[in-house]
Amino acid sequence: MHSKLSHLLFLSIAIITTQLYAQTYAKNGMVASSNSLSSKTGVSMLKKGGNAVDAAIATAFSLAVTLPSAGNIGGGGFIVFMNADGNVTTIDFREKAPLSATNDMYLDTVGNLIPGSNHNSIKAIGVPGTVAGLYKAHQKYGKLPWANLVQPAIDQAKNGFPFNWSLFAAADRFTQEGNENAFMDNYFRNTEGNVVQPDELWKQPQLAATLTLIRDKGKDGFYKGEVAKKIAKWMKANGGIITKRDLKKYEAIERKPIQGSYKDFDIYSMPPPSSGGVVLVEMMNLMEQANFEEIEFNSTEYVHLVAEAMRRAFSDRAEHLGDPDFNLNMPIDKLTSKEFAKKRFEAIDMTRASISDSTKFGQLYDGDSTTHLSVMDKDGNAVSLTYTLEFSYGSKMGSPELGFIFNNEMGDFNAQPGITKTNGQIGTAPNLVAPEKRMLSSMTPTIVSKNGVPYLVIGSPGGRTIINTVFQTVFNVLEYDMRVDKAIEALKIHHQWLPDRIIYEQHLLSPDTRNALEAMGHTMKEYGNLGALMGITYDPIKKVFTGASDSSRPDGGAVGY
Ligand code: GLY
Repeated sequence: MHSKLSHLLFLSIAIITTQLYAQTYAKNGMVASSNSLSSKTGVSMLKKGGNAVDAAIATAFSLAVTLPSAGNIGGGGFIVFMNADGNVTTIDFREKAPLSATNDMYLDTVGNLIPGSNHNSIKAIGVPGTVAGLYKAHQKYGKLPWANLVQPAIDQAKNGFPFNWSLFAAADRFTQEGNENAFMDNYFRNTEGNVVQPDELWKQPQLAATLTLIRDKGKDGFYKGEVAKKIAKWMKANGGIITKRDLKKYEAIERKPIQGSYKDFDIYSMPPPSSGGVVLVEMMNLMEQANFEEIEFNSTEYVHLVAEAMRRAFSDRAEHLGDPDFNLNMPIDKLTSKEFAKKRFEAIDMTRASISDSTKFGQLYDGDSTTHLSVMDKDGNAVSLTYTLEFSYGSKMGSPELGFIFNNEMGDFNAQPGITKTNGQIGTAPNLVAPEKRMLSSMTPTIVSKNGVPYLVIGSPGGRTIINTVFQTVFNVLEYDMRVDKAIEALKIHHQWLPDRIIYEQHLLSPDTRNALEAMGHTMKEYGNLGALMGITYDPIKKVFTGASDSSRPDGGAVGY
């Protein structure tokens, strides 16, 4: 089957035949991720006496096998960890620009951006961070032996797992006649050379071998020795610029979280190089200024206020945020302060849309090939982990010998210095390419606590939309007291300053409200679905975990025990 129609057919069959875990209750612990087999893998670690960190690591390795569009060892991401003692920390394993990267590497000889070069070329690959990040999390906070956490992923890759309909839809896309990408064409084929069929066990022997080295040698199993040598060899042969030195130098970094509050709740999220935490807290602070006794969920006023909060926070994101190791004076305290939110709130006209000024700042919407997992354990530990390949299946490149896909994360840097356009291309200085710099992210792994106890663990994929979908879900739970599954499924909108428009989810906004918003000066654009949120809440009175997996991910699951 070759047509778009066939993809639709696959997806609709998937929705009918795959078990949905829309919402799950449990007493002892919970894992929510975009693949229920991987969530079960995480829960099996909890059952063996592991903590939330162990479960998150095992789930992440498993997703590298079951969800290769976003789960990965060739990309990067972030962990927010709340320890049972109430302390919160984060681990930054964002990809880095290679040592030989330059801020004009995507420009032609007259300084114009070579279309697509920052996303669709071997030079779009950043130095991967995932293995270093998971290893660091384990060294500092894990309980079970490292090998036990990697082994289930090795077994899933070696012995295979039932090929699902989402993978089959991707396989159909990548194996069409005329496809020039040999790596992706072979990726979904079995040993006979045929495309793997739904429910057939999909085996990935090369990936299993790579994971085995990681199991036995830890971080060095990826960044040194055989794997590093093969990566460097493959890069050189294909015009890439990542070397053995780049890999050897890569380190994950533990950083202090961004901390904010909303009424009685404390909010912890990711600091730069993700913009997620700063922008989330900025928007929550602004919303705290309004009176929600008078503003109904989904009303014109509500959507207008949310969009105006987003417009302002995304403008600040573009102006100020980048890798903290290269931008030493980012005004984070100011952006996340209540005073700043008060001034921002007072400047909003509740009857008219503001105008995003393209001579200043903004960001472009991009697709989702990121994935999020949330974990809570019986001892009160919580992990919020988001990691990514950037686009779906990242760069769509990899060494056949190693069996995993590389990211195309260099596309998250501002590619053309100094050029900011109304279409959302940004050229501001904090996020320009430089050797060893981390590109600005929107990933927003978040933990909300009350009285020092984790209350909500949440996150999402979705490029720039991540911050806004997490923001609205957190807001739905904290302000409107929605159950986590309802909060995940409720209307999401997205505004990112530039382009100056509100994107809204199909069927979830009434035509009257849309018309009223247009009359206020907003440009409205319908969109199929925003985000794929994986969330868990904990009720400290009933001592019950409630988990939910976004229905946009038919293979996802919140699994507890
Ligand atoms: N690649 C998506 C992000 O990091 O925001």
